[in-house]
Amino acid sequence: MDPSTVLRAGLLGISKSDKVKNLIENAPVSRGVVNRFVAGARTADAVSAVVGLQEDGRLATVDFLGEDTLDRRQASATRDAYLDLLSALSDRGLTANGAAEVSLKLSALGLALGADGEKLALEHARQVCELAATCGTTVTLDMEDYTTTDATLSVLRDLRADFPWVGAVLQAYLHRTESDCRDLATADSRVRLCKGAYKQPESVAYQSAHDVDLSYVRCLKVLMEGEGYPMVASHDPRLIAIASSLAGKNHREPDSFEYQMLYGIRPDEQRRLAKAGHQMRIYVPYGDQWYGYLVRRMAERPANTMFFLRAVATK
Ligand code: FDA
Repeated sequence: MDPSTVLRAGLLGISKSDKVKNLIENAPVSRGVVNRFVAGARTADAVSAVVGLQEDGRLATVDFLGEDTLDRRQASATRDAYLDLLSALSDRGLTANGAAEVSLKLSALGLALGADGEKLALEHARQVCELAATCGTTVTLDMEDYTTTDATLSVLRDLRADFPWVGAVLQAYLHRTESDCRDLATADSRVRLCKGAYKQPESVAYQSAHDVDLSYVRCLKVLMEGEGYPMVASHDPRLIAIASSLAGKNHREPDSFEYQMLYGIRPDEQRRLAKAGHQMRIYVPYGDQWYGYLVRRMAERPANTMFFLRAVATK
């Protein structure tokens, strides 16, 4: 077995162990890492993080941590957390013109809850969108593993009928994504393009980093040439340079697309891009479900382990 497979199996193993969870949650070194990648446990912590980002011209999209909910009450509680978050951001004047928006995982809103899971997730997402509209901001649907792509895009279509500004994430590692980009590169359509963070089978996804990068560039071309609003979600300097060049080639004004990065990753580059007049949005996770977020991200792809370890090393 190659070392990355062993590493992945090990990480997935500890992600299910309560004993290891307690150990890691209480270790001082973990708290340091968590504090770097997660804004905090409470709504107020997320709001403070957004205030800090806006102080130096960075936009935000806030994610209430949690996913794969198999409990109706939990799905409703997640919706309520988003309503509370939007109200708190709006009260502080942080949502004007979409400066702070929210990102939703449909599996946290009930997508996996049996036959009517999609309907439930749609209803919860719709309630979040209604309040977002009142607050003058937007909502973006995160993309999870490939078994949920069709359902997520179907919920997106339903939501966009009433809220045309709802955006979605597309993952460059999926073979289907270039075609999904063509479908979504239409007027007002907001598409957040990322590489993809889940371990996916060869039948549906490119496996090598090189192939994923090539696909990312093909997808980016489609989005930049299209009429929608591309959101370039990557920390990769080569892809950022290519995005900038494609934006120029397609005569895009700086307010017709944006760069996006994760909270705590390459903060100096985030500030540099914002200072240079680009729209720079930061994905801000908060909540007490951080253990799964960090460990699963590391386990899903060996590259993610390096991603977090590199960030810790450059602290
Ligand atoms: P990658 O991790 O391959 O790194 C490429 C290069 O970037 C490195 O070689 C290095 O040069 C540079 N770099 C990276 N980290 C660095 C660091 N800490 N310091 C210095 N340089 C560094 N995924 C998903 O499946 N569904 C989703 O909904 C989302 N949502 C999402 C939103 C946003 C805003 C972002 C930024 C990302 C996501 N993702 C995601 C995660 C995404 O799919 C991907 O796993 C990570 O962004 C890592 O991929 P990169 O493109 O950053 O490149």
